[in-house]
Amino acid sequence: MPDILDIIRRDHEKVMGIIEDLDKSRAVARERERPFAELKKEITQHMDAEEKVFYPALERNERDDILEAIEEHNVTRTVSDDMDNTPMDSDRWKAKLKVLKELTEHHIEEEEDKIFKEARKDLSKDQLEDMGKRFEEAKGIMYR
Ligand SMILES: [Fe+2]
Ligand SMILES: [Fe+2]
Repeated sequence: MPDILDIIRRDHEKVMGIIEDLDKSRAVARERERPFAELKKEITQHMDAEEKVFYPALERNERDDILEAIEEHNVTRTVSDDMDNTPMDSDRWKAKLKVLKELTEHHIEEEEDKIFKEARKDLSKDQLEDMGKRFEEAKGIMYR
C-alpha cells in the first residue's frame, strides 16, 4: 500500500511535469490556460493537504523546517494568484512561471530530503500508510 511519502512524491512529479510543459509552451494564452488551471488545482490541494495532515505530525521535532516549508507554500500561493492576474501571453507571466519553477524545485528538494527523513524517523510504516489515506481524503474533501 502506498504511504504518504509515496503519494507526496507522486504529486511532486505530476506538478513538475505540468510546470515543464508550461515552460516549453508558446506565448499563446489559450495554450496555457488549461495546464495552468490544472497546475493551480494540483498545487493548492497538495499544499493544503500537507498542512492539514503531514506537517502537524512532525511539527514538534522539526519546527524550523516546517515553518520554512509553510512560508514557501505561502509564497507559492502569492505567485500563482499573481499569475492569474497577469496576461498569459506576456513576458511577465513567463518570468513569474520561472520564479514558480525555481521555488517549487527548491521546496520539493527540501521536502523529499530533510522532511521525509524526519518522517521516516518519527513515524512507523503503519502510521505513514494511515496518513496516506487521510492525505488523499483531505485532497478530495476540500474540493468536492
Ligand atoms: Fe509537497
Ligand atoms: Fe510542501
